[in-house]
Amino acid sequence: MLDKLKKRRTQYALGKNLPISETQVDALIRDAIRLSPSSFNSQSSRAVVLFGKESDKFWNIASEALRAVVPAADFQATSKKLDSFASGAGTVLFYEDQEPVKALQANFPLYAHNFPIWSEHSTGMAQLAVWTALADAGIGASLQHYHPLVDADVAKTWNIPASWELKAQMPFGSNEAGFAEKTFIDDELRFRTHR
Ligand SMILES: Cc1cc2nc3c(=O)[nH]c(=O)nc-3n(C[C@H](O)[C@H](O)[C@H](O)COP(=O)(O)O)c2cc1C
Repeated sequence: MLDKLKKRRTQYALGKNLPISETQVDALIRDAIRLSPSSFNSQSSRAVVLFGKESDKFWNIASEALRAVVPAADFQATSKKLDSFASGAGTVLFYEDQEPVKALQANFPLYAHNFPIWSEHSTGMAQLAVWTALADAGIGASLQHYHPLVDADVAKTWNIPASWELKAQMPFGSNEAGFAEKTFIDDELRFRTHR
C-alpha cells in the first residue's frame, strides 16, 4: 500500500499514450471510487470520465470561462497551463451528489451539519483512491479546480443531474516527465504518538 502511495505524484507533463486501454482505465476509476468509504455508506461520490475529444471539450469550456475573467495580459500563461491538461488522455470530473447528503440530514438531524462536511471528506478519499490507482497503473495525473466557473457549461454538455456538485477535475495521461524530489516537513511538527 505505501509503495502505491509513494508512486502518486502531481504530473503536469501528460501525453496520450496510456499503458492500458481506455476500458481498463475506466474500470479502474470506477473500482477506486466504488471501494472508497463514505459517511453512513451514503456513496455520494459521482464521477464523469472523459476520454480524448470529450476531455478536450472540458478544457475548452475551462479556457472560455477563464478568458472571460483573467486579465488579457495573463491569459497566455493560463492558456498554456490548460493546454498541458488537455494534452493528456482524459479527465475525471469528481462530483458529490447532494441528494443522499440531504436525505441523511433529514434522517439524522443530530448530525445534519456534519453530512456536507463528510461529503467533502468522501470526495477527497475518492480522489486519492483514483489518483493512487492511476499512478499504480503507470498513469500520471494532477488535481485541478476550475469549478464553479465551468459548472453550467459542463452540466449542459454532459447532461449532469442538478443535484451533482462538481468538486475536482483530474487530468490524466502518460507520464512525459519525471518527478521533482518531494520535501517533507519535520515529523515533530505533525505527529504525536503516545504509548
Ligand atoms: C485538496 C487539494 C487541492 C489541490 N488543488 C490543486 C490545484 O488546484 N491545482 C494543482 O495543480 N494542484 C493541486 N493540488 C496538488 C498539490 O499541489 C500537490 O499534491 C502537492 O504539491 C504535493 O505534490 P505531489 O502531488 O506531487 O505529492 C491539490 C492537492 C490537494 C490535496
